Amino acid sequence: MQATGKGQVLTLEHEHGSLWQRNQAGADMFAVISDIHGNLEALEAVLDRIKELDIDEIVCLGDIVGYGPNPMECTDLVAEHCQQKVMGNHDFGVLYEPANFNVGAEQACFWTRQQLLSDTHAQRRRTRTYFLGSAPAKLTHKGMSFAHGSPRRPINEYIFPDDVYSNTNKLASIFERMESFCFVGHTHFAGVFLPDPDFYNPAELGEHFAFDSAERAIINVGSVGQPRDRDPRASFVTVSDNEVKFVRAEYDIQKVIDKIGAVEKLDNFQGERLLEGR
Ligand SMILES: [Fe+2]
Repeated sequence: MQATGKGQVLTLEHEHGSLWQRNQAGADMFAVISDIHGNLEALEAVLDRIKELDIDEIVCLGDIVGYGPNPMECTDLVAEHCQQKVMGNHDFGVLYEPANFNVGAEQACFWTRQQLLSDTHAQRRRTRTYFLGSAPAKLTHKGMSFAHGSPRRPINEYIFPDDVYSNTNKLASIFERMESFCFVGHTHFAGVFLPDPDFYNPAELGEHFAFDSAERAIINVGSVGQPRDRDPRASFVTVSDNEVKFVRAEYDIQKVIDKIGAVEKLDNFQGERLLEGR
């Protein structure tokens, strides 16, 4: 059934609520995480929650590093726990060249690069660099596509909720190239885009989205380590054969703020904004 408006999506979501219940055990489910940005406490909280849900397959949509104080630890944890990954613009910026970054982001990028390169354990340094650099720009998995930014420009293109009002041609062009569902991150705003075009945040969707409510959709999983949708909790999704569930996890934000404050090259604003999720 094709969704044509907000009311219909909400109705369909409600109708399929029972299907979600049958998948609570975690069988055949996987999780999608994105935009960790060196926030170790947020990543650990998300991995704990995924483990509680008995899910052992995780796809990471990139931006493992940048902004946060623990890029190496986050890279190691993603390498350990995520079976699939794609390249984020901050991962690319740290390894190669930051493109269109603001001053604070660029400074964090160069600090992160220095951290990765300063590990005196040569094998560990090479392993981390290879892990970050070997991520593909885009991935197809279980009939769906996965990218950091957008399906047509996978590393750098932003798809913002406001685009459904102010940039309808852009969304039409993106959906023209899509046959199914695509998972993205990059904006740090969780929610679902439909071809109408329209955007629904997780609250409007009742925190889950049924695949048979639309033929095509772009699902933004939100950000683990730097949410900007005014909910400071770490964001990720779980995916079953019939739907996507939006999940948030609380973590010790003050600990991360203190760590960022202790690093001269990281702008304190990158910590303070975590409290409000902005
Ligand atoms: Fe990001």
